[in-house]
Amino acid sequence: MSQVKIGILGGSGLYKMEALKDIEEIQIETPFGSPSDALIVGTLEGTRVAFLARHGRNHHLLPSELPFRANIYAMKSLGVEYLISASAVGSLQAEMKPLDMVIPDQFIDRTFGRMGTFFGDGIVAHVAFGDPVCLQLAKVLGDAVESLQLEGVTLHRGGTYVCMEGPAFSTKAESNLHRSWDASVIGMTNLPEAKLAREAEIAYATLALVTDYDCWHPDHDSVTVEMVIGNLQRNAVNAQKVILETVRRLSKNPPVSDAHSALKYAILTPKD
Ligand code: ADE
Repeated sequence: MSQVKIGILGGSGLYKMEALKDIEEIQIETPFGSPSDALIVGTLEGTRVAFLARHGRNHHLLPSELPFRANIYAMKSLGVEYLISASAVGSLQAEMKPLDMVIPDQFIDRTFGRMGTFFGDGIVAHVAFGDPVCLQLAKVLGDAVESLQLEGVTLHRGGTYVCMEGPAFSTKAESNLHRSWDASVIGMTNLPEAKLAREAEIAYATLALVTDYDCWHPDHDSVTVEMVIGNLQRNAVNAQKVILETVRRLSKNPPVSDAHSALKYAILTPKD
């Protein structure tokens, strides 16, 4: 199979890309086990892309159960250089309303014991992670959103994504703690993906789709699964338009990304 340079990770509510043509379903085994599901390779406007539903197409995997390493390894094995993550998030800021889109540029890790590295077992490396998303890819994603002028959707470029363990949503005390850190949105999956993508020298950025106000907002009900899925279904069409436009722009003008050389100075263990 020829190289597939663009990968898409779909989250809750985004289990397939409607516009994909000439689909091949690929089961990939990796040294880190099986990915969440088969990877769906298909053509979007002339460009081959690989889509993976991170929770599985039937949503059978908890955030803590996701095979993060296998997912990123599988994308890398197809030749993916740019990875677009679409994810439902709760908002921690009044101005980030349900149905808005946020493109975070920072993460805070509130997960426990997830496997966030390919290294170990005799090979030591420390990748730079001060800028945890690829800012060049984030810009393409933001420009794509802006160009579409989606009705009722405000784009927020930048912001901090808190990655919590789950599966229960936050308590009000936790939600207020995250707000006191000036964080923007909260989700359960993106930070391990961003770390592993960096180690795999894949440019990674997130399209965060706001579905709720978590549980801190005095004028809104606390988040429920019904709320998340309801708003995501409303936004799934827009999310797919954004991904399509991003793929169009990436294939015309693939940006140079620092992520593509992340291992240049990162590995401490001598080769021989
Ligand atoms: N995903 C969508 N909404 C969320 C929330 N409030 N907390 C964590 N993950 C979420």
